[in-house]
Amino acid sequence: MKTILESKNLCKTYYSNDVEFHALKNVDLEINQGEFVAIMGQSGSGKSTLLYTLSGMDDITGGDVYIREQKINNLKEKEITKIRRENIGFIFQGINLVSNLTLKENVVVPGYLATKSKDVIDERATTLLNRMEIMDQVDKLPTQVSGGQKQRAAIARAMINNPDILFADEPTGALNSSSSKAVLDLIKSFNEDGQTIIMVTHDIKSASYANRVVFLKDGRIEGELDLKRYQSDNQEKVIFDFLSEKGW
Ligand SMILES: Nc1ncnc2c1ncn2[C@@H]1O[C@H](COP(=O)(O)OP(=O)(O)O)[C@@H](O)[C@H]1O
Ligand SMILES: [Mg+2]
Repeated sequence: MKTILESKNLCKTYYSNDVEFHALKNVDLEINQGEFVAIMGQSGSGKSTLLYTLSGMDDITGGDVYIREQKINNLKEKEITKIRRENIGFIFQGINLVSNLTLKENVVVPGYLATKSKDVIDERATTLLNRMEIMDQVDKLPTQVSGGQKQRAAIARAMINNPDILFADEPTGALNSSSSKAVLDLIKSFNEDGQTIIMVTHDIKSASYANRVVFLKDGRIEGELDLKRYQSDNQEKVIFDFLSEKGW
């Protein structure tokens, strides 16, 4: 198994008004290529902070983070921007498409920034937008489509540069249950094609789409669950029992 992402002694301390808050405390995590990892934990346990620091979107205050064996902390701003653009895809709960660009434009713009050939990006965008089943919506603005359609456009945007790792922070948090299922099925389908995925969720059903669950508590990893060892029809119960045992 090839390691694609690793943190060693990862620490993140927030400072505000002379008050220190240790949001991540010596987190050691190793993620292999092709894994689908769900990060679970109570509100405030550090899940979003973990995603932002592992992806190079936020800086760290201790330890190291490696993507494909390249240390990404203490890189120059220009180098980290390149990694964020070319190696990382990100989907947010709040979706955050650019409001004055169409769905299509939202998808292609990060592609144009990373790749010289416009044709390659246009073709890839078409493939992705078809796969997301929103081809008939691509010329609309985000305000003119449903939440589920917006999030599917955001997935296409996150995938436009073939990222090494797709990060998702509660990607279905703002969606109803049928849109959530569609989004999770699409995310899962990329994983079945080999895409490495790290997804924060507090929902057991969403976590059951992953192959591994990592449980965070007060900024530390308190346990891990290998879902591959269990039958798919039993996974939600296994996750429930695991979380109960950890004092969820
Ligand atoms: N910019 C910040 N400044 C100060 N404290 C923060 C900041 N961001 C997050 N925190 C604190 O760090 C802790 C973890 O936050 P977060 O990673 O967002 O948790 P989660 O995603 O699990 O709900 C929380 O207690 C939160 O209040
Ligand atoms: Mg969060």
